[in-house]
Amino acid sequence: MCGIVGYTGTQNAAPALLEGLKKLEYRGYDSAGIAVLENGRISVSKVTGRIAGLEEKTEGGALLPGTTGIGHTRWATHGAPTEPNAHPHASNDGRFVVVHNGIIENYMELKQELLAKGYRFESETDTEVVAHLVEMYYRGDLKSAVMRTAARLRGSYALGIICAEEPDTVIVVREASPLILGVGIGENFFASDVTALVAYTRNAIYLEDGEFAKLTPDGISVFDCTGHEIEKKISRITWDIQAAEKGGYDHFMLKEIMEQPRAVKAAIAPRLHGSEIVLDDTDIDLTGIRKIVITACGSAYYAGCAAKYAIEALCRIPVTTELASELRYSDPLMGEDTLVIVLSQSGETADSIAALRECKSRGARALAIVNVVGSTIAKIADWCLYTWAGPEIAVATTKGYTTQLTVLYLFALYAGRKLKTVDDASYRKLLSCLKSLPKLLQQALDMNPEIPRLAKKYHRADSMFFIGRNTDYAVALEGALKMKEISYIHAESYAAGELKHGTIALMHDGQPVIALCCNDAITEKTMSNIVEVKARGAEVLAVAHRENSKILSLADDMIFVPRVHPLLSAAVEIVPLQLLAYYVAKENNCDIDKPKNLAKSVTVE
Ligand code: F6R
Repeated sequence: MCGIVGYTGTQNAAPALLEGLKKLEYRGYDSAGIAVLENGRISVSKVTGRIAGLEEKTEGGALLPGTTGIGHTRWATHGAPTEPNAHPHASNDGRFVVVHNGIIENYMELKQELLAKGYRFESETDTEVVAHLVEMYYRGDLKSAVMRTAARLRGSYALGIICAEEPDTVIVVREASPLILGVGIGENFFASDVTALVAYTRNAIYLEDGEFAKLTPDGISVFDCTGHEIEKKISRITWDIQAAEKGGYDHFMLKEIMEQPRAVKAAIAPRLHGSEIVLDDTDIDLTGIRKIVITACGSAYYAGCAAKYAIEALCRIPVTTELASELRYSDPLMGEDTLVIVLSQSGETADSIAALRECKSRGARALAIVNVVGSTIAKIADWCLYTWAGPEIAVATTKGYTTQLTVLYLFALYAGRKLKTVDDASYRKLLSCLKSLPKLLQQALDMNPEIPRLAKKYHRADSMFFIGRNTDYAVALEGALKMKEISYIHAESYAAGELKHGTIALMHDGQPVIALCCNDAITEKTMSNIVEVKARGAEVLAVAHRENSKILSLADDMIFVPRVHPLLSAAVEIVPLQLLAYYVAKENNCDIDKPKNLAKSVTVE
């Protein structure tokens, strides 16, 4: 996720901006930059890579004197991590400079309009449209120009803007992206995250969506979206630095679990143009494709297992899922009629890279679904769709998995439409469900306050079984992996119908069985398996819709998920299982963000 900071006061701005940016480093970034205003001129300095590089380039900020400035750390989304794409971005006349956190969903339309008016673009970012719009609307008052600009933007943004003609002034505005103002004495600050503020002040104003603020060294004025000045409460920041970096959560994993509604929205919203799905600038050529192979490792592989059902149902093309570590040595039967889809959060997983190369060498067309922009897998594939989840810091993936699934759903609908294998009514129904995924994910997070209590009940188990059928089985695979990797409890995922072919021999008094029963078409069958394991003493924790009263009477404990179209349900169903694994691991005092023996990016075989 990008980070933004700003300063106006009596001291030189650059050192404070660099310090603020350093405090945001934990969020992950691939480039950084600052802009400082002095004597009617704005100087900008940017680097790819570390803040240390920016410090070196600006000699600790000394090369950019001036008491008003803005800064940014960028996690690439629109365009590779290059210097031109790094923020701050300037207007063509250099009078306006902007930093942005978020995504401008309608930037393509705005860019076309600005290009037609003769504005030049120096970057591939969505943000640059903001600098040009402010220039276009400026009539001697930066605040008015920013208000007119914001009225044109769709999406999420926290913006910090300075103007060469308005000394000591920073204008900020927020919509669906965090923005906090730091109130000092003779100096004022803004940042996307309190972490960047606490070294300077503990007095903060939290802006709400649609609000603007004008910062000068002497004060802060806040305005509503119509431009009327409003009173805002000054709050006291009580967090210590470490807690602040985790946004107040105890662990990055929990923070990232909670970020899922926003991350999934960021993956979907820019790709929906009315009722059409536009997959970035990519036209994925599906002519003559007779088979689809999804390959990946770990959770990414399980995301593929869950999405297989949606792709087959909507595209009527057979889909197989292959572990990348197996596929690479399997002499795979494929050729020009094959589309291989490689899933990878990091884009650097050695087995996935090797599998992709193997498939390409056999003539398959390759689509990558990757989080890290410019990573190896993104570069090797013929087409790449980014998941735009923002940096994932906890080793165990959460938002990486749900955004991979989301992008696969988008692909399934897009391809089904293109191949004419999905009828209009189903397309509309699924599209509307897809749009509501962020809301449903939020519900899934909110509707289970009992999970910490359940974790206390189950955390001493030696082993757990996760069972389900169809899409529920795919979720069971990921649920079990989450449990084992962070809580170190042996967890086995099983297709519920397979139990009686051997594994049911392991059932005994008190054996925890997590039974997923969210796919109505097959729930009755899973319920018979619940009866079978209960007859052998198992303790059943069912994951189901609240309305399913039959399960309520069968299971010992319940976790609820909102009702979602079965083809898209895995992305929501996994949420309570992530929470369960998290709280069980917490009960067991495990090192949740850095589980033993694991690495975030597995770049060796
Ligand atoms: C589990 C987990 C791993 C990764 C796997 C692939 O929580 O994070 O199983 O999913 O190592 O990593 P990427 O997606 O980076 O290729």
